Amino acid sequence: MIQEKKLYLETFGCQMNVSDSEKIVGLMKGIGYQQTPDPTHADLILLNTCSIRAKAEQKVYGHLGKFKSIKRKRPHLIIGVGGCVAQQEGERLLEKAPFVNLVFGTHNLHLLQEMVAAAETGKRRIETDFLDDEKRFDLYGVADTDSGFTRFVTVMQGCDNFCAYCIVPHVRGREISRSAGKIVEEVAALAASGVTEVTLLGQNVNSYSSKNPGEPDFPDLLRLVAEVDGIERLRFTTSHPKDISERLIACFAEIPKLAPHIHLPAQAGSDRVLKAMNRGYTSAEYLGKVAALKAACPGIQITGDMIVGFPGEEAGDFEETMALMEEVGYADLFSFIYSARPGTKAAEFPDLTGKEEKQARLERLQTAQKKTTLERNRSMEGTIQEVLVEGLSDSKDSLFGRTGGNRGVILEGDLALAGKVVPVKIVEGLQTLLKGEIVDPHGRE
Ligand code: 5AD
Ligand code: SF4
Repeated sequence: MIQEKKLYLETFGCQMNVSDSEKIVGLMKGIGYQQTPDPTHADLILLNTCSIRAKAEQKVYGHLGKFKSIKRKRPHLIIGVGGCVAQQEGERLLEKAPFVNLVFGTHNLHLLQEMVAAAETGKRRIETDFLDDEKRFDLYGVADTDSGFTRFVTVMQGCDNFCAYCIVPHVRGREISRSAGKIVEEVAALAASGVTEVTLLGQNVNSYSSKNPGEPDFPDLLRLVAEVDGIERLRFTTSHPKDISERLIACFAEIPKLAPHIHLPAQAGSDRVLKAMNRGYTSAEYLGKVAALKAACPGIQITGDMIVGFPGEEAGDFEETMALMEEVGYADLFSFIYSARPGTKAAEFPDLTGKEEKQARLERLQTAQKKTTLERNRSMEGTIQEVLVEGLSDSKDSLFGRTGGNRGVILEGDLALAGKVVPVKIVEGLQTLLKGEIVDPHGRE
């Protein structure tokens, strides 16, 4: 009997990495590897890494240390590192961790099968070249996930914005968009396989096709994808506030399948800090876009990202961040202490605020947001929400789904509802979740 080869895959960081990891699982299945949750039984360990903050990067080296001891007992074990740390470190990674067999950058997933096959015959390989054509997108159809009804579809990659704190343009390269025809083809294939929700993915989807004059822009693309039969719900992420146009805002009113949620990272509420960050908008401009979104789509759920303790952020600047946050009323906010990334512009700025002060600001922000999130979740009690059932909840004894606004809901019901959008009455709003009951479509509750 041929022994099955086992893959242990760990993913750090953003949705782009989660999406890449789904492709990695599919690619590795294609050459005989099945996933295992236990690294001590693996024949292949792959780390899909993130370098957005120093902590994420340090984690990679910590985990590699653990895998080194597994390899001592399993000398045939192949260890590979991909993603943003791999892109940034390249050869240095092999020097620091000589037991690593392969290193693949952010544009090189399409080479992974042959790299692993070479590693099986004892060859070490490193691929971190940037590709400026669409070849790196040509992996659709390989993604493999448990969530059969909801998928990511990459529409563009890379970023040209060079926010002063951000490593992404350095490790993901310049912005490149995929052709609308290929995207629609992929979405149609997903719909034919039972997928009902797609999330269009890119570092800055609003500037989709800005380098391809004459091609559909992002609002056009949303319309094309919404027309695909079988797709019931459409989402996108991430949006840069400076590039969100009136036409895009209007899509929320005009495309019924477009879910009422937008992730719109402000990063700061002080104009001085926004300027130093090179964000390209003021807080008033940001709030103007938020007001336009709320007008076009009453009830839209807005989530965001915020950085605390950017070099030069003073107490007054932070108060402006708090004020902006309160005014928006975020459904959820991801907030981080600024982390200097080598090679970025802000890494050269003098940073005089102490660690404790930054921590105190973060805690204040997070406490206030927690309160807002809970209040918002509670205010949904008694409302009827359209919930896309994704499958079983983590505890496996209930169903889990998401509202159009992207709030997670636990509900009782038959697993046969997975993949369907059902009306659900919210009975309880908790801190991170809602609890709901399916409303009988014939009027009985
Ligand atoms: N330090 C802290 N947070 C950062 N982010 C990006 N770069 C940094 C950094 N150097 C945050 C931003 C971004 C999110 C994905 O991570 O808020 O939107
Ligand atoms: Fe980074 Fe700014 Fe590009 Fe977002 S828009 S990926 S924060 S450089």
